Amino acid sequence: MFDFDEIVERRGTHSAKWDEMEASFGVSTVDGLPMWVADMDFKAPQAVNQALIDAAENGVNGYYGDDSRYKTSVVNWMSKRHDWQVSPDWIVTCAGLVQGTALCVQAYTEPGDGVILFTPVYHAFSKVIKANQRVVVESPLIQKHGRYEMDLAALEASLNGTERLVVMCSPHNPGGRVWTKEEIQDLANFCARHDLVLVVDEIHHDLVFPPNKHTVATLAAPEHEQNMVILAATTKTFNIASALTGAAIIPNPELRDKFKFVLNAAA
Ligand SMILES: Cc1ncc(COP(=O)(O)O)c(C=O)c1O
Repeated sequence: MFDFDEIVERRGTHSAKWDEMEASFGVSTVDGLPMWVADMDFKAPQAVNQALIDAAENGVNGYYGDDSRYKTSVVNWMSKRHDWQVSPDWIVTCAGLVQGTALCVQAYTEPGDGVILFTPVYHAFSKVIKANQRVVVESPLIQKHGRYEMDLAALEASLNGTERLVVMCSPHNPGGRVWTKEEIQDLANFCARHDLVLVVDEIHHDLVFPPNKHTVATLAAPEHEQNMVILAATTKTFNIASALTGAAIIPNPELRDKFKFVLNAAA
């Protein structure tokens, strides 16, 4: 059994969450607990840490090549945990999902284009959109029945024709909404109607409390699978953010080639 009560001292370990809190927010870690980033204070599972120990014991840390075993693990995880059958060639590995989002912005839009976000949402989305000289188009979530919902009617009424992309967070951060199949279907239909590529950041896909069930967007709307990019990672599930890995899963070969093109350009 994993010991969730073990306290791990992270101060002074180059932890962004702990060691940058005072500089960022003016609260020392003597007086406050950092809760500003989704980075847990639990150790990674023993199997994960053992893999790192084995690599360190080899002692030579040269360039890493051949990510086929990683891709096989992603395929197996998606099949077992999320009932999604992924082909290994749909997967493009990237250095985390903020990078994956930025690459989608570069691949599918031009400077000045609009990128739609359902706000409030994870802050790095707008950061990378603005840094790439695209325009953040906010579609405010509305509170209904004590929870956040998307307001696609209001969004539709506000479109001005410059929007090219939607970046959705599923499950949603913040607020924790686990979007229903119907909500995702409605959004996928909306994107198809308005010729918008749909990027879905599913980094929190494994952290869902029953009876809620995470639905991969491509499974909610299989007829629009060719219009979607699913971003997934082991980061949150296993608490290994510093590994800086992510998977952009792109069933459509044209969208995939565009993504690979900008990834290669940044290499
Ligand atoms: C929704 C969401 N996407 C992405 C990230 C960060 O992803 P990465 O570390 O892979 O860049 C976070 C981190 O909190 C997040 O909450």
